[in-house]
Order: sequence, then C-alpha cells, then structure tokens
Amino acid sequence: MTAPSLRLITDAPALATSLPLASDAQPPAPHIRLRGISKVYQGAQGPVQALSDIDLDIHRGEVFGIIGRSGAGKSSLIRILNRLETPTQGQVLLDQVNLGEVNEDRLVELRRGIGMIFQHFNLMSAKTVAQNVELPLKVAGVSRAIRQRKVRELLALVGLEGKHSAYPAQLSGGQKQRVGIARALVHDPAVLLCDEATSALDPETTASILALLRDINQRLRLTIVLITHEMAVIREICDRVVVLEQGRIVEQGPVWQVFGDPRHEVSRTLLAPLQHALPAALLARLRPVPESGAALVLALRFSGASAEEPDLSGLFHALGGHVRLLQGGIEQIQGRALGQLVISVAQSPLEHSQLIERAGRWAQNVEVLGYVV
Ligand SMILES: Nc1ncnc2c1ncn2[C@@H]1O[C@H](COP(=O)(O)OP(=O)(O)OP(=O)(O)O)[C@@H](O)[C@H]1O
Ligand SMILES: [Mg+2]
Repeated sequence: MTAPSLRLITDAPALATSLPLASDAQPPAPHIRLRGISKVYQGAQGPVQALSDIDLDIHRGEVFGIIGRSGAGKSSLIRILNRLETPTQGQVLLDQVNLGEVNEDRLVELRRGIGMIFQHFNLMSAKTVAQNVELPLKVAGVSRAIRQRKVRELLALVGLEGKHSAYPAQLSGGQKQRVGIARALVHDPAVLLCDEATSALDPETTASILALLRDINQRLRLTIVLITHEMAVIREICDRVVVLEQGRIVEQGPVWQVFGDPRHEVSRTLLAPLQHALPAALLARLRPVPESGAALVLALRFSGASAEEPDLSGLFHALGGHVRLLQGGIEQIQGRALGQLVISVAQSPLEHSQLIERAGRWAQNVEVLGYVV
C-alpha cells in the first residue's frame, strides 16, 4: 500500500514505524498491550471497581471491538488507552512503550498518536467546521500554511469539502461525526479510539460512518479500537471483539467465532436483537413429544467452522422424506458462513435419532425443537 499523502505534510512523527516481519520471524509485538489493568473509582458511595485484571493485545491495523452492557467498563477501558484515566493497577504498552513510565512531555507527544471520537461529537459550537479541525494543530504550534493544507485534506477525506465555513449547528449528526473524525486525524495518529461513535446516529448514517472508518483503517493502516453496545456495529467492521461484563473480559475472539458460537450468556444477550425468534404460529403448533405422522423440527446451526455455505440438496437427500424450511438464513462474516436453519422432516424412512445424526454432518449444532403434525 502506498503511504497516504496525509502523512507527508505533518511535522508530528507518526508512531507506527515497525513493519511486519517476514513470515518465519517472530510475530510483530502487539500495537497496544494491556497487562493486569484494574480501575477503581472513588465514588460518592465508596470505591467502584470498574475494571478487573484486563489482559489484552491489539494488533497493528486491526479494528478491535469492545462490547458490553451499560456500566460494563468500556469507556473506562478506552480512556485508559490514551491515559485520560490512570489505571489503579497494571500497564498499558503502546508500541512497547509503557505509558505509566513516560514523562509529561512524552505523554503529550504519544497522545497525539492516538485520536479519539465520541458519541456526542464534542465539537465547539462557536467555531466553524474548519476551525474545529484546525484547533488541535494550532495548540500544537503547527504553522498556518500546514494547518490549512491539513484541514483541506482531512475534510476531503471525510467527505465534507463544501462545509469548511459551516457551524456545527448547521450539520446533521453524521456530518458532525465526520468533523469529529477529521479532527481526530490531525496529528496522523496510529490509533483511533471510538467511544460509541455511532450511538447517536440513525441506522443509515451509522452505516456510512462505519464505512468511512473502515476506509480510513485500510487507507491509513490505522489501528481502530471501537466501543459499542450494538453487536451490529461489531459485525459491520470489527476483526476481533472482546465482551466486557462487570469490568472483566468474559469472551473474546474473531468476530465470526463470537457470532457463530457465543459462549457467554452476556454475548448471547447482546446478539439476541440480531436473531429472529421463531414465528408465533410455529411455536403454537410445536409439540414436545412425537405423535403419529408428526414431522421432526430441527434447528441446524452453522457456526462458521466451515467457510462453505450449507449444501441443501445434499442435506435434504441425506434426510430423505419431505423436508420443509420453516425459518432461517445464512450470512457471511469475515468469509465464514454463519446462521441457522429451522426445518421440519416428515415421512422419512429414517428414525428420528438417525435424522439428528445425519443433520449433524452438515451443521455444527443440531437441536430438536419438537414435533409438528
Ligand atoms: N468518574 C467516575 N467515578 C466513579 N465511578 C465511575 C466513574 N466513571 C465510571 N464509573 C463507574 O464505573 C463503572 C464503569 O463505567 P464505564 O463508564 O466505564 O461503563 P461503560 O461500559 O462505558 O457504560 P456505558 O455503556 O453506559 O457508557 C460504572 O459502574 C460507572 O458508574
Ligand atoms: Mg461508556
């Protein structure tokens, strides 16, 4: 990939200097490493343990998702990454530099390598779009000519060419977040932190902002750490995800794996809005025990272990009899086929136990939902 021109006109050194090594060499050190992070706040009613013993490696160039319910500790964790919060215990290593051991000047410099965007954009209402983006460069003492070039390039990057002189109040939510993104990129950061960056936006605008983040991630080879409480956001752009609950990591892995085979109850709860409940009419007809002539109802789950889409003709042939698709679908996440098919099988020459065993050759998980007449 060619280096984006954005990087060439800054006088702030980019943090990302180490290139990936040859395949037989050691894997590169994680871009961000958390070791034994705990955070205790002194709240009005006594101490609040917001994070407990978090270990995490985030690789250069990945989009890393942190999901959890309200109060799980997501914002605390992301604010510890750029030292807006100091951990009570543990270490944050950025490119192997321990943020807890550097002096104030070095910390300011390192922080410029970490951009951040917020749910409510945090723009200055009395300043224009261009002035909002320019401000951090002014604070850093960057010359006027470079500032103006940089603002122009960044506003073009985020698709706001015509909005230099507009004020935040004249922008839509999506446009405000684009200004937030442009401002977060002024120092050519190697890391972009996003705290619920799309939570105030409608679904269509959310999709466009996520597409912009993905584009930036690829063009600038930026590491993105993204917090959300919506699994749909994770599915859209993340490579890996951790699930936080009460300040602890309860599950982590590639997105396809956590979606295809969620292990923890919290992950399942967070995934529930993306899943279709069985139709009420079908539920009403389901019987727990077989009656004569009843069809067996099976839920076949495809957890992405195979990259291939399920071969339905082979499945139907193996089951024999009369197979109906009652509900379901397959989606592709990171090139894996995930989903669930609910089928009924009637008039098969096979025993029910054989049908379940045969179905298990196609799907990673087979559940008997009951019987319908
Ligand atoms: N400055 C603070 N003082 C005291 N307690 C705090 C402070 N900040 C956060 N907490 C507490 O720490 C816990 C984790 O909060 P945090 O904001 O990290 O959660 P979150 O996952 O970001 O939640 P949300 O999804 O609602 O934004 C909560 O119990 C919260 O009340
Ligand atoms: Mg939060």
